[in-house]
Amino acid sequence: MRSVLVCGVGDGIGAAIVRELKSTGHRVVVVSRGKMGAELASELSLPHIACDLMDEAQVSRMVEDAVKAIGSVDSLVHTAGGYYKKETIERTDREFFTGALLNNALTFYNTVRASLEQLRSSGRGSVVAVSAAPNVYLNSNVGYAAGKGSVHFMVRQLSVELMKHNIAVNGISPGFFGRGPESYSDEKAVLLQKGRLPGQSVGRTVVHLLENPLITGQLIEVDGGHSMDIPSGL
Ligand SMILES: NC(=O)c1ccc[n+]([C@@H]2O[C@H](COP(=O)([O-])OP(=O)(O)OC[C@H]3O[C@@H](n4cnc5c(N)ncnc54)[C@H](OP(=O)(O)O)[C@@H]3O)[C@@H](O)[C@H]2O)c1
Repeated sequence: MRSVLVCGVGDGIGAAIVRELKSTGHRVVVVSRGKMGAELASELSLPHIACDLMDEAQVSRMVEDAVKAIGSVDSLVHTAGGYYKKETIERTDREFFTGALLNNALTFYNTVRASLEQLRSSGRGSVVAVSAAPNVYLNSNVGYAAGKGSVHFMVRQLSVELMKHNIAVNGISPGFFGRGPESYSDEKAVLLQKGRLPGQSVGRTVVHLLENPLITGQLIEVDGGHSMDIPSGL
């Protein structure tokens, strides 16, 4: 059983991961800024900590509170992100760009750094970052692209740096994950995810990565084939 901190939980991918971790018997702390994470935690009878992951002091207190709640933290799942609104570079001002970059990259840096002592002392730490598919046109904006690109490279850097502490670091790139068929604007996403549960697939992959110490430095696409080219006529 792992003791997992899930950071940046809303009602989408983070919630699906929390549900999968809980149903597979892992100890979980739900961390969110908004109220959806608190509602999910209350529904599942899990501890919840409110935290803005951009704020280093809050993040460090959050890890202390998590240890009080579940005894230790040997695994970190980072799902915080956002700013994926479709926008051109002309309309992406410096403030929006910085917000998108930092909300994806700095939040990841803050959570890993604050959890490091716990991950190290567990003897077998694990980190999974939810990123975005590098092989899919993100259809968002240059700030989001910079943020997720940073997360990818941080996963690779950290996996090498933290190997000596027996800490595995991986990333997951979901395909388009809507809230229901009506939210799929991309025809290919509709086709590929039809009848499947993308959230549960992402959750199962996270659980697998946390349980398997030999996988590290990988960016795994859980996208139903969204990143593949489909020849016309098939
Ligand atoms: N949906 C997709 O198709 C898709 C595809 C590829 C990758 N992803 C990635 O998957 C992750 C989850 O996405 P989602 O679709 O489930 O969207 P989501 O519901 O918007 O999840 C993002 C969560 O991150 C939280 N967050 C952002 N900044 C934070 C901060 N400073 N402190 C604490 N929490 C913060 C948000 O909290 P608040 O509610 O407080 O704003 C929100 O709950 C994101 O990293 C996203 O980029 C999504």
